[in-house]
Amino acid sequence: MVVGGASGIGRAAADRLTAAGHHVVVADVNADAARTAAAEIGGDWLYLDVTDERSVAAGFTALDDVAVVVNCAGLSMPGPIVDLELSAWQTTVDVCLTGTFLVLKHAGRRIVDGGSIVCVASLNGRQPGTGMAAYCAAKAGVLMLVEVAALELAERGVRVNAVSPGLVDTPLTEGISFIPGLREEYLENTPLGRAGTPGDVADTIAFLASPASGWMTGSAIDLNGGAHMRGYPDLLGRIKALADDDG
Ligand code: NAI
Repeated sequence: MVVGGASGIGRAAADRLTAAGHHVVVADVNADAARTAAAEIGGDWLYLDVTDERSVAAGFTALDDVAVVVNCAGLSMPGPIVDLELSAWQTTVDVCLTGTFLVLKHAGRRIVDGGSIVCVASLNGRQPGTGMAAYCAAKAGVLMLVEVAALELAERGVRVNAVSPGLVDTPLTEGISFIPGLREEYLENTPLGRAGTPGDVADTIAFLASPASGWMTGSAIDLNGGAHMRGYPDLLGRIKALADDDG
C-alpha cells in the first residue's frame, strides 16, 4: 500500500515496489490520479484521506496480507509564524503529522508480522527554515512517531523507518521556481549540487521495504545530496526581496 502514491515520490515508490515484485495498491485523496497510477503499474487503487480516520481504517480493512506500507501523503502551507492562519497550521499538521499517526495506527493493526512501514519525513524534520513552521514541526513529529511505532511494533517483527528527503522535484515543489534565487540557494546548500528526483527517494523506500534493511527499525535516512550538513534557504527573506523589487 502506497499512501499518497498518486504523485511525485509516492508515484515513483509505486513503480519501484512493483518492479520489486509487489502487488501495489495506490491510496490517495486524489482518486482520479490514483486510478491512473494503478492502471499504469498494473496495481489497484483506493480513495484514502489520511486526515479522516474512517477513511484510513476502511482503506486498511479492505486489504488482506499487507506486507509493506509507505506513507507519502504530505503538503506544506508556508508563512511567517506571526501571520500564519491557524487553519493553515492545522491543515499542515493534520495531513503530515496526524495523517502519519492514523496510517501507523491502522497499518500497525493490519500489516503482517515481519512487515515494513516507511514514512516520508523531511530534511525539515531536523533543519528549520523561515516560513516553514507548521511543516517543520509536523515533520519533526513524524520522526519521533516513527521511533515510538518502531518500539511498539518490534515484538511482531514489524519494522518502521523514515526517509528524510531534501529538495525533490515534484508537483509539491514547483512553486519554488517562482521565487527568484530560491532554487539556487537550495543547490548552493547541497554539496552534491543537484535536487533529488522522485526515483532517488523511491530507491531508498524500496530498500527500507526490502529484507536488505531487515536489521533496521526506528531509523531515518537523510537523503538530500548532503544538504543536512549546511544551512537551509531563507524562504521569507527571498519573498521579502521579491516584494521589495516589485514595490
Ligand atoms: P506530491 O504533491 O507530488 O504528492 C503528494 C501526494 O499526497 C499527492 O498524491 C496528494 O494527493 C497526496 N495527499 C495529499 N493530502 C492527502 C491526504 N489528506 N490523504 C491522502 N493523500 C494525500 O508531493 P511529493 O513531493 O511527492 O511529497 C511526498 C512526501 O514527501 C510528502 O510527505 C512531502 O512532505 C515529502 N517531502 C517532499 C519533498 C520535496 O522536496 N518534494 C522534500 C521532503 C519531503
